[in-house]
Amino acid sequence: MKNYPVNTSLKPEVKAFFEEDSNTISYVVKDPASKSCAVIDSVMDIDYAAGRITHDHADEIIAYIKAEGLELEWLIETHVHADHLSAAPYIQDKLGGKIGIGSKITVVQEVFGKVFNEGTEFQRDGSQFDRLFEDGDTYKIGTMDAFVMHTPGHTPACMVHVIGDAAFVGDTLFMPDGGSARADFPGGDAGELYDSIQKVLALPDETRLFMCHDYGPNGRDIQWETTVADEKAHNIHVGGGKTKEEFVKFRTERDAQLDMPRLIIPSLQVNMRAGDMPPADEDGRTFLKVPVNTL
Ligand SMILES: [Fe+2]
Repeated sequence: MKNYPVNTSLKPEVKAFFEEDSNTISYVVKDPASKSCAVIDSVMDIDYAAGRITHDHADEIIAYIKAEGLELEWLIETHVHADHLSAAPYIQDKLGGKIGIGSKITVVQEVFGKVFNEGTEFQRDGSQFDRLFEDGDTYKIGTMDAFVMHTPGHTPACMVHVIGDAAFVGDTLFMPDGGSARADFPGGDAGELYDSIQKVLALPDETRLFMCHDYGPNGRDIQWETTVADEKAHNIHVGGGKTKEEFVKFRTERDAQLDMPRLIIPSLQVNMRAGDMPPADEDGRTFLKVPVNTL
């Protein structure tokens, strides 16, 4: 495996914010040696049936950052989410910080720019984001060194962000009893997802892993934190030394039975724009499209 700059002696403070409607966990990651922090995978609330956007979940995060007197340096998206809308621009507007995502966002923009019949004013170069990360890139949160691992498979732009002994795995892995995320979206690939998961499992055993989602399988309470050692031993899809062939067969068969996520249509249109809505019309009204028989 590539030589990533692992440093598990650094232990960032992690505060989780669970969003019930999409089963997403957003995080505030704080530097123990300064007031600097980052927000990972924020959520904007949407009542899709009513076409109504609100910001209760983001406001809760903003209130926490203000109450703790923190300085927000980064708004990280682990990938282009298909099940919730990002609140990154809303939070950036209030608290500052740079919005970052994997550089393969351009591939996602190319695919879904076509799906949603976006005009030429929709740039497919990732320029809506402040930083496009490549595999192995590093960045700072206060005094902390963070690095990214490119982990395609669920989507082409997926990145795992590793900050000291904490790794934010996005949708590469779920909790051990949840397994893994689907790999059947455009640009997804079950074999690539297996290889990406191996990158995560190659981190030191004690690495804390923070999930982007949890659905409380078999009626258990919602959980979002585990370790590399726990996933290696117990993950129901890849743990216990499951082979790539076994995983690809299982994942492909499972994905064929899954419905589209409830919020995929609004989510992609917003998230491929870094969390911004499509441009308003001449009367200042904002619209989202529904492509018929396309997805
Ligand atoms: Fe996802």
